[in-house]
Amino acid sequence: MAVGKTTVGRALARRMGYRFYDTGAMYRALTWLALQKGVDPRDETALTQLAQHSRIQLLPGTDGDEGGLLVDGRDITSELRESEVEASVSPVSEVAGVRRCLVAQQRELAQGGGVVMAGRDIGTVVLPQADLKVFLIASPEERAHRRQQELLAQGKEAPYEKVLENLRRRDRIDSQRAHSPLKPAQGAEVIDTDSLTLEQVLERVMKLVQEALCR
Ligand code: DC
Repeated sequence: MAVGKTTVGRALARRMGYRFYDTGAMYRALTWLALQKGVDPRDETALTQLAQHSRIQLLPGTDGDEGGLLVDGRDITSELRESEVEASVSPVSEVAGVRRCLVAQQRELAQGGGVVMAGRDIGTVVLPQADLKVFLIASPEERAHRRQQELLAQGKEAPYEKVLENLRRRDRIDSQRAHSPLKPAQGAEVIDTDSLTLEQVLERVMKLVQEALCR
């Protein structure tokens, strides 16, 4: 069945009474802002300046709150999954200056602990000293099914083959890019979620949390 890192992270944080941060939302927000301002998603200098001069506030998910994202005070949470953002977020997140800026903000958010943070480079770059690092894997086919369900829930029809092709293309870019390519961190626990339910994944992660906290 395969569950995503956001679903697992959110549920884990709820159980632990921790804050949950989905860092992908920050890269999506910057992409959204670039599109709004007519900045070319391949213009590295302009994107870096945009990242430096905008206020991207990632609000934590907590027990009673879904969290969200504000750009210069405006709540754009519901716009982060639009297809235009989806199509340009990979090149934007490749820009070194953008990553430097957002990574620094993510480290600030994690200050003081009590945090579950989801993202592709959290264990490798953002928080290499985290108490526990988990790397979830799932087959492209399972992820494409999940993505298609998400799109349907938003009232958008998308052919499975097209969703799968987009996802494979983005995976290629994300794992081959020069800065922070997608890979498990040293010491990360890898969990293949393909045949597991959310409850089963959570059970495994909670066990790892107990072990990590008692180390
Ligand atoms: O997890 P997501 O689909 O919301 O991520 C959107 C994009 O942002 C994806 O192309 C990878 C990138 N990203 C990243 O480079 N580093 C992160 N920590 C989170 C997301």
